[in-house]
Amino acid sequence: MRSLDSVHSYFDREAERFDAIYDKEKPLHQQIGDALFRRVIHERFSLVLNAIGAPGRTLLDVGCGPGRYGVELARRGAARCLGVDVAQPMIDIATAEAEKAGVADRCAWQVSDFLSWQSDEPFDAVVAMGYYDYLEDPLPHVEKMIGHTRDRLFASFPKRWEVRTPLRVLRFQLARGFVRFYSRPEVIDLFRRAGQLPFLALVDLGRDYLAIYDAGAARARR
Ligand SMILES: C[S@@+](CC[C@H](N)C(=O)[O-])C[C@H]1O[C@@H](n2cnc3c(N)ncnc32)[C@H](O)[C@@H]1O
Repeated sequence: MRSLDSVHSYFDREAERFDAIYDKEKPLHQQIGDALFRRVIHERFSLVLNAIGAPGRTLLDVGCGPGRYGVELARRGAARCLGVDVAQPMIDIATAEAEKAGVADRCAWQVSDFLSWQSDEPFDAVVAMGYYDYLEDPLPHVEKMIGHTRDRLFASFPKRWEVRTPLRVLRFQLARGFVRFYSRPEVIDLFRRAGQLPFLALVDLGRDYLAIYDAGAARARR
């Protein structure tokens, strides 16, 4: 698929720069850019980690990038964190960070496109942060994630109608990457088709919607 190729090569090139968003120590111009355009990355990080509640839990992180969610959850006591990402340089960073944090025994990383990834393992929590931005056809991804979720699925969706959207479009066009956006009804429709709406909560995070889907409760209702 055209978008997967451009996403793949974009994140092969951008792995280090993306990981640096999480660091406090960086040049002033990067601090300003991140504060203006990428604050949501820190907000969703705190919100999702605290909502999952780590001790003894298992996590699947789809499009895990540099593995920040898995490493931090493992540090907080998660039993197992598996990250899947199509970009090898992202997985290299995640592997090194898990080693550095002393949690490599509870983390695993795999280089794969998520739809091609084969496993029937269920996880307490499935996380897909900054992932749906890069998909042409998101429905099969939502369906597959729900299938792997024992308890809750957390997924972010960048808003279509947001002041920063045109700048982001331009940035990705110049870098020959692929990015897309969602209206609130589009996110709701995805979960209506893949699951059951009463078990969906949508949190407005400014630049993104955060979808929290209670797959465990939805399954019990069937
Ligand atoms: C913006 S990064 C987000 C990383 C991480 N979730 C975070 O929030 O820190 C998006 C990641 O999704 C990965 N990705 C995009 N499409 C993918 C696919 N179809 N299968 C696996 N990974 C994918 C990219 O390689 C990239 O590392």
